[in-house]
Amino acid sequence: MKKRIKTVLTSLGFLAAFLLLVAASSENGSNQNGNKWIAPAFAKSIKNPLKGDKSSVKLGKELYVQQCATCHGESGTGNGPSARFLEKHPRNFTEKEFKSQADGEIFWKITTGNPPMPSFKGMLTKEQRWQLVNYIRTFSKK
Ligand code: HEC
Repeated sequence: MKKRIKTVLTSLGFLAAFLLLVAASSENGSNQNGNKWIAPAFAKSIKNPLKGDKSSVKLGKELYVQQCATCHGESGTGNGPSARFLEKHPRNFTEKEFKSQADGEIFWKITTGNPPMPSFKGMLTKEQRWQLVNYIRTFSKK
């Protein structure tokens, strides 16, 4: 009899731990592991017309401070002053996972958006969006 109670208690313990894990993972928002925001395959091959253009980085920085830092943070780590009010956290631009994306994929995401990340297609020119790609790249080079 005692043994049975012990088994039941142990299983309850496992169940509780499992539920805690599930709760913790859903709190991280949908951009973690599970349903990550992934650009379509064609985006990889969109060529960066400003590749290696140093002045584009400076212009990109100006735009970034005005339009992006409130959510993405001055240093691109995703902790801008508005970030805590969002239902989804902006990803950290300094992480390997972000870095491994092609310029075209980053450009596609800035262009298209995915709420609460706004679409900048109508707000910024193509050139400005590429300047931002070049600037964002610098976060992971430090
Ligand atoms: C209102 C807050 C907000 C603003 C302003 C904003 N973003 Fe975002 N951004 C987000 C959120 C939230 C995500 C994550 C979306 C997701 O994963 O579904 C995101 C995702 C991204 C991504 C994709 C990152 C990845 O996971 O691959 C890029 C690139 C990006 N933003 C660039 C920008 C740029 C450049 C600007 C300024 C022109 C900008 N964002 C402005 C909230 C914002």
